[in-house]
Amino acid sequence: MKPLFIVLEGIDGSGKTTQADYLKTYFEGQGQAALVSPEPSSGPIGQLIRQVLAANILPFATAQEFEQQMGYLFAADRYYHLYNAQDGILPARDQQGCHIITPRYYFSSFAYNAHRPEDWQFIERLNQDFPPPDALIYLDLPVEQALQRLGARQQRECYEKEDKLREVSRNYQRLLENYSHPLLCLAANQSPEALHQQIVAFLQQF
Ligand code: TYD
Repeated sequence: MKPLFIVLEGIDGSGKTTQADYLKTYFEGQGQAALVSPEPSSGPIGQLIRQVLAANILPFATAQEFEQQMGYLFAADRYYHLYNAQDGILPARDQQGCHIITPRYYFSSFAYNAHRPEDWQFIERLNQDFPPPDALIYLDLPVEQALQRLGARQQRECYEKEDKLREVSRNYQRLLENYSHPLLCLAANQSPEALHQQIVAFLQQF
């Protein structure tokens, strides 16, 4: 298989990280190098984003302004994540031949940081130069089940709330309806093993 840039998307609690880890183990079992590298990244901008998500330290009067700021931050982090000379994921794919598995990419910016139609266009402008992934996998989980899963976690980040997740889920549906590159949508309330098998079968086309 040629080295792939694979993105996993879905609302909080949908199981992206678990599937990313399964996939990495699968590739390595096949003797192929693979790296799990999520967004927000572990770089300086990603760390700043994590601080903001854990405790809202940015003073904005409205949710719209806050989301606009987040849109800029995530786009800046994305550029770093793709292209930086130390551990940029596209150099790792293209020069080291490593599969890249990325939980969250620009789809999350549309889903989380766009509210009104004009916000959607704003996010589109910010992200228009980023390449689509070789494969996109969407884990579709009902919000009720996501909240149950998140309930078990110690601390909730600023987006992990019911109203927000409902909007995020709607935004994903809208975005994926018109998506024209390789895409696999899966009902995420199956066992991790069953999901993994379907993902592996889907990737055989490459
Ligand atoms: P998440 O994958 O939930 O990280 P973790 O489970 O390790 O805490 O990502 C953190 C949050 O970032 C998540 O709620 C979605 C949000 N996010 C955006 O709002 N816009 C983006 O462009 C991205 C990549 C993430």
